[in-house]
Amino acid sequence: MPAIVLIGAQWGDEGKGKATDLLGSRIDAVVKFNGGNNAGHTIVIDGEKYALHLLPSGILTPGVVPVIGNGVVVDLGVLFEEVDAIEARGVDASKLVVSGNAHVIPSYNTTLDRVTERFLGNSKIGTTGRGIGPTYADKMARIGIRVQDLFDEDVLRAKVAGALNLKNQILVKIYNRKAVDVEAVVTELRAYAERLRPMVRDTALLLEQLLDEGKTVVLEAGQATHLDVDHGTYPFVTSSNATAGGACTGSGIPPNRITRVVAVVKAYTTRVGEGPFPTELLDESGERLRQAGFEFGTTTGRPRRCGWFDAPLARYATRINGVTDFVLTKLDVLTGMDEVPVCVAYEIDGVRHDEVPMTQAEFARAVPVYETFPGWHEDISKARTLEDLPRNARDYVAALEAMIRAPISVIGVGPGREQTVVVHDLLD
Ligand code: IMP
Repeated sequence: MPAIVLIGAQWGDEGKGKATDLLGSRIDAVVKFNGGNNAGHTIVIDGEKYALHLLPSGILTPGVVPVIGNGVVVDLGVLFEEVDAIEARGVDASKLVVSGNAHVIPSYNTTLDRVTERFLGNSKIGTTGRGIGPTYADKMARIGIRVQDLFDEDVLRAKVAGALNLKNQILVKIYNRKAVDVEAVVTELRAYAERLRPMVRDTALLLEQLLDEGKTVVLEAGQATHLDVDHGTYPFVTSSNATAGGACTGSGIPPNRITRVVAVVKAYTTRVGEGPFPTELLDESGERLRQAGFEFGTTTGRPRRCGWFDAPLARYATRINGVTDFVLTKLDVLTGMDEVPVCVAYEIDGVRHDEVPMTQAEFARAVPVYETFPGWHEDISKARTLEDLPRNARDYVAALEAMIRAPISVIGVGPGREQTVVVHDLLD
């Protein structure tokens, strides 16, 4: 009864969708446990590209039960848009289940996300503007609206009125916007209730039953370790727990049932939005990575900031998540370079730091200490075993593995589902 947690080791966009998809038909359920439609998975199957923001990537695999867990924040408009879009392409979405405890993103929170960012000016976070932060803030402030609230109009009205009591003060008095009408929000949310009702379950109970039956469950994180609200580069983070611990709280699966923690890490580093990024390349090397790796946001289309592999950053992910296996993605993007630099430590105020420093202020001043590895020019996109990789590529992978202190079990050598080198099976 394997429960496999799948997380990102950097700042997101490492290619988690590909890793889930690789497990393919051997998975029985895929759970999204945090985040909302701020995520973006691009999956290529038989040359067809699917961009998903809210739905768990497992939805594309026939037979898999896709679960939106209690830790997720759900924009219902986006949920049904995505369901309609994949159904129009012949994908069966009828198995999708949604936790009654998940919070919904009312449109006033999308508005608040955007006006808050504008208000912050130079101090902005660079959010995706999807209402994620304000909705998690409401959850913690206990004024959130949950999926289950949609099915009782009186309860819904009372909760929306309670939230707007506060929110309208903020919208009107701070941001100079019009007050939001309670009835308009009730109507907006109730419009989805009937279509949503058959999908809503006690997902924690369902997952326990599936595990008891010996089924394989994958818990797939949105965002990544360094965007985690507790363990990331706060405040330049998302508002949820994207690390392995979040998989338990966001799904209701207890820690002692987790059997494996798989981290996806890119062969270089990218980041979207603001915040420190020691290995960021602002020159043509960064542009080369961006073009070769097609590093543009799936959700916002923003060009991603690109830089070299940062070993202490990935090693931190090993530690925080208890990583048992790494999936190294996009190794092919490095093909054609004479030398590949890797950040092995930082220099901060003249002192060498082998690990991510304790404070944000130090991290913001961190200057990478690089070690350079010989590159390779051979096309590796058809490699399927380690032996198919040129010597220098193999040495690069071995060096990363030693630095991040967990085995690299899978290597991505191209965007297609089949373009992978499997060193150890993730389900063995
Ligand atoms: P939010 O999640 O929209 O509140 O944005 C907070 C930060 O997380 C911003 O820097 C976003 O760019 C970043 N972020 C959110 N989701 C993703 C993702 O799926 N990939 C990469 N960055 C993300």
